[in-house]
Amino acid sequence: MKRVLSGVQPSGKAHLGNYLGAIRQHVEMQYEFDTFLFIADLHALTTVKDPEKMRSQTYELAVSYLALGLDPDKTVFFKQSDLSEHAELCWIFDCITHMPFLERAHAWKDAKAKGKKEVTVGLFNYPVLQAADILLYQPDLVPVGQDQKQHIEMTRDIAKSFNNLFGDTFKIPESLIKKEVAVVPGIDGQKMSKSYENTIDIFAPEDKLKKQVMSIITSSIPLEDPKDPKNCNVFQIYKLLATDKETAYLEKKYLAGGFGYGEAKNLLLAKILETFGPARKKYQEIFPQKDYIKEILEEGAKKAKETSSKTLKEVKKKVGYL
Ligand code: ADP
Ligand code: TRP
Repeated sequence: MKRVLSGVQPSGKAHLGNYLGAIRQHVEMQYEFDTFLFIADLHALTTVKDPEKMRSQTYELAVSYLALGLDPDKTVFFKQSDLSEHAELCWIFDCITHMPFLERAHAWKDAKAKGKKEVTVGLFNYPVLQAADILLYQPDLVPVGQDQKQHIEMTRDIAKSFNNLFGDTFKIPESLIKKEVAVVPGIDGQKMSKSYENTIDIFAPEDKLKKQVMSIITSSIPLEDPKDPKNCNVFQIYKLLATDKETAYLEKKYLAGGFGYGEAKNLLLAKILETFGPARKKYQEIFPQKDYIKEILEEGAKKAKETSSKTLKEVKKKVGYL
C-alpha cells in the first residue's frame, strides 16, 4: 500500500475553504493509503509567537480533524513537536543545503520583497524542516495545495543530494496536487482566508455562523429581477456543498426572478448545517475531553516515532554518528 504524508499548520479556526481545499482530502486518503498526518507546530513558530495561541490553535486543529472524520486508528495523527527527529534531521540537511538554493524559495523571496524586518532564520530554513518532516517517513506521495509545490520539489532535491553524498537512503516522494480543488470564495468574494477575515467557520456557534452567512456580499439587484448565479458568492459557495440537482434547482430560482438573496442565504445556511451537522455535534462532544485528545496525539507520536527513529538511525549511520 502506498504511503501518504501531509502536514498542516495550526493557523486558527477551520473554515469552509480549509475543509474543501485540504481537510476533506486528508480524511478521504486514509481509506486508500497508509496515512500519516501531523500538526506542523514547529513550522507555526515562524509566525505564532504567543504560547496560548499556539496551544489553543493546535488543540482546535486536532479536534477539528477528529470531528470531520479523521480516524486515529487509520491515520497516524501526531504533533510535530512531540518528536525530536524532525529537528535533528533538519540540522543534518542544513549541513548539505546551500544558501542560494534556499534563497530561491517563494516564501523567503516574498518576505524579502515586502521588506519585512523580522525575517528569521526559521523562516529561511522552513523548506529544510519540511524536507525532514517528509523524508523521515519515506512516503510515496505528499498531498498539498499548489502553493506548496516548490517545497516538495526542494524536498526531492535535498533527498537526492543526501543520497548522492552518503548512498541510497531516501525514497524520492511525489507531490499530489488536486487540480480540481476550487478556490472557495469568502463572504466578500475574495479567496476565503483567515488573513482576509472573510471566513465561514465550520464550528462557529449557530448565531455566529448565521451572521457570517448573512453578511455575504451580494449585488443590489431588486428582488423581482432575474439574477446571475455565476456572479453571486452565495450561489458559488452553495454549489460546492450541494448535489447537482439542488444546484440546478437554485440556479432556476435565480434566473426566474422573484427570489431574493435573503432566501438564498437561508438555503446556504441550512445546507452548511446539514453538511456539517454530525461534525459540529462531534466537535462539541470531544472539545471538552482534553485527556482524550492528548492521548490520541501521544499515541500517534508513538506510532510515528517507530518509523521516524528508524530512518534517523539509518541517516546517523550513513553520516558516521553510529
Ligand atoms: P488561511 O488562508 O485561512 O490562513 P491556510 O493557509 O491555513 O488558510 O490553509 C490551510 C489549507 O486550506 C491549505 O491546504 C489551503 O490550500 C487550504 N485553503 C485555504 N483557503 C482555501 C480556499 N479559500 N479555497 C480552497 N482551499 C483553501
Ligand atoms: N508548509 C505546509 C503548509 O504551510 C505545512 C507542512 C509542514 C507540510 N511540513 C509539511 C506539508 C510536510 C506537507 C508535508 O501548508
